Amino acid sequence: MIIFFVDQNLKKLPLSEILDIEKLNNVDKPIESAKGLPNDCYTNANYLAYEKEKIFFNKWTVVGVGSSIPKAGDAKPYNLLGIPLILIRDKEMKIRVFHNVCSHRGFKLLDKACNLKNVIRCPYHSWSYDFKGNLVATPHIGGLNNHQHKKFDKTKSHLKEVRTKIWMDIIFVNINSNEVDFEEYIKPLERRWSSFINKEDQKLIVHSNDYGYFSLDVKCNWKFAIENYCESYHLPTIHPELNKVSSINDHYHIQGLPNRFAGQGSKKYEQLIKGNKKFKSFPNWEKDKLKNSEYIALFPNVMIGLHIDHLYVFWLEPLAMNKTKEHMQIYYVGNESANGEYLKELRKENSRFWKDVMLEDISAVEGMQDGRNSPVYNGGNFSPIMDQPTHQFHKWVASNLV
Ligand code: FES
Ligand SMILES: [Fe+2]
Repeated sequence: MIIFFVDQNLKKLPLSEILDIEKLNNVDKPIESAKGLPNDCYTNANYLAYEKEKIFFNKWTVVGVGSSIPKAGDAKPYNLLGIPLILIRDKEMKIRVFHNVCSHRGFKLLDKACNLKNVIRCPYHSWSYDFKGNLVATPHIGGLNNHQHKKFDKTKSHLKEVRTKIWMDIIFVNINSNEVDFEEYIKPLERRWSSFINKEDQKLIVHSNDYGYFSLDVKCNWKFAIENYCESYHLPTIHPELNKVSSINDHYHIQGLPNRFAGQGSKKYEQLIKGNKKFKSFPNWEKDKLKNSEYIALFPNVMIGLHIDHLYVFWLEPLAMNKTKEHMQIYYVGNESANGEYLKELRKENSRFWKDVMLEDISAVEGMQDGRNSPVYNGGNFSPIMDQPTHQFHKWVASNLV
């Protein structure tokens, strides 16, 4: 398989020169007659340059989780489709995201994760910024041993901060600063989940340090991971073991309104129990929904699995047209469940369970990528019953492109 890395020099062509608009229009039809997104959306590098702007920079996009920078001064670089960013936790424990470029001559400031003591220092000429992005030192700017220059105003050269919001430890950025306020954006999902976790319950989540995180590299376009996650149609074929305990019949589909998320739920979630050991539950979970769990893809690039005793954040780092890194972080209710020695084996088992499920899905998403190289495929067809969430995601993509 050829991997197409993101080429920053790709010209941003008009969409009509990249793909057949008529095919795109076929997405937004009643599901019985709709077609899926055209092949170019998964195989054409010019399309990715277009999508980068329209989807990833215009929307609230996930670039990480707070638990990966837990201490004050923790910082890590992140590359969002060619744009270098810094994720940092400042001294007041607030997470900030900056463009990762020095205001002097444009050196990339940070190239690996680290804990910084007081400043972000540029390796080139040592200009330094505090954790709020203020330029605080410009050594020798006025000549040797003269660190000021009367014509240079430091206050006009701070780091450029990205519009950022943290929700349930997830770091969302809106590069182009043009999406609706995050509170408005997330309200429909919070409303849906208010019978499971309210705002106070959201504060109870704690990441686990031992079996909390793993990542997977998949050879496919990021959209396939979302499409596959939304539906339960593939349960019997791709997840035969999971289907035995929580079968396709026990699942229901979820349609977010307005169209910002889609997914599925199960009515047969069974908590992991070993003897008298089990994870703590969310305290305000409605009593008639104890066995409900929900799996939601919040567009564009994060999937959340919510259960009475844990939640996970499964987010996508698009690397190329046909290359994606999947990141998984699991959270529990309170520190005892997340990190207590007593429940370590249970956490290991839970993490293993989800990793096996995600590994099973790789054959599905990579198989779709391979198939999309066929010139005779035209977006295909949807099952009017089973593919509703996937159709919803395709409509979301198509509507944001034009
Ligand atoms: S480019 Fe950063 S200090 Fe010169
Ligand atoms: Fe799956």
